[in-house]
Amino acid sequence: MLTKIEALRAQLNELLEKAESSAELDKAKVEFLGKKGAITELMTSLKELKDPMEKKNAGQQINLLKKEVEERLAARADELVKLEEQRQIEAGPRYDFTVPAKSGQGSLHPITIVQNELEEIFASMGFTIEDYDEIVDEYHNFEALNIPGHHPARDMQDTYYLSNGQLLKTHTSAAQNAIMRKYGAPLRAIFPGRCFRNEATDACHENTFFQMEGIMIDEDISISNLIYFMKTMLSEVFERDINVRLRPGFFPFVEPGFELDISCLICGGEGCPTCKNSGWLELCPCGMIHPNVLTAGGIDPEKYTGFAFGLGLTRLAMMKNGIKDIRVLNSGNLKALSQFTSR
Ligand code: PHE
Repeated sequence: MLTKIEALRAQLNELLEKAESSAELDKAKVEFLGKKGAITELMTSLKELKDPMEKKNAGQQINLLKKEVEERLAARADELVKLEEQRQIEAGPRYDFTVPAKSGQGSLHPITIVQNELEEIFASMGFTIEDYDEIVDEYHNFEALNIPGHHPARDMQDTYYLSNGQLLKTHTSAAQNAIMRKYGAPLRAIFPGRCFRNEATDACHENTFFQMEGIMIDEDISISNLIYFMKTMLSEVFERDINVRLRPGFFPFVEPGFELDISCLICGGEGCPTCKNSGWLELCPCGMIHPNVLTAGGIDPEKYTGFAFGLGLTRLAMMKNGIKDIRVLNSGNLKALSQFTSR
């Protein structure tokens, strides 16, 4: 009996090694465990053994073998599934990433389109275009902008701090200091960038949005220059007359400071969720650069004055395209976004 068991075990090893498909495994299962299978037969032949000790021992051995067969068949089945997957991956389609894209596929994001337009407009007026980091330190985001640690204006911007003390820039103004230091005065520069604030999102607020900052510093720059550049920019972007209003606004880095609002183009000024029912949309906070900010940037405030503005690029893209909900812009929803990228 025991030699029979050993012979079966050897047979099992051989079968398992050869089995290349689940059909072969099923066949092996029937051969061993089926109603007329080898193990079942062994069980029936147990009764022929006369010696009770021998019978008991053989019974235990058969049970062990049975368990072993079950376990090893299941393990081999798992292995075969993995092998099959590997085979399919190897036989699958091969991609050639060097083949040029088919024309007409892919397009620029609506915000990129507006950004490019603005860069062209400002470049034609003598502004350089600058790039800046998204992770900055407190000095650049706040202190250099006349916002010391204790200042309540820090609370106006819900900031994402990193564990190393740095932060995700809350506004493109964070680049002002570095750019002043890089070029000195006179200076005309714009710097578009992605900004982050811990905002509860709704139709007109997002935690990730784009701004475009602009600064112009020279001798005798005044509010008239600021208004001129803002008006020129808006009429070029919208290619038509837009209702605007200028009202006082507080930002520690400008003095005086303004909010430049445009009449909401989604509702025509009547009020809707996009403009918080006011009919107006804050598009471009701006003002005359505070002397402390010029000094921090290494520029003599006795000699030079300048203006700064922080255009809401995301809002501008919404107004230009009639996009009612800001969340569409970061959604990656091609069906929605491709409506605005045909130009
Ligand atoms: N950085 C300000 C903000 O995002 C906007 C601003 C820029 C205001 C430049 C004045 C001058 O809130």
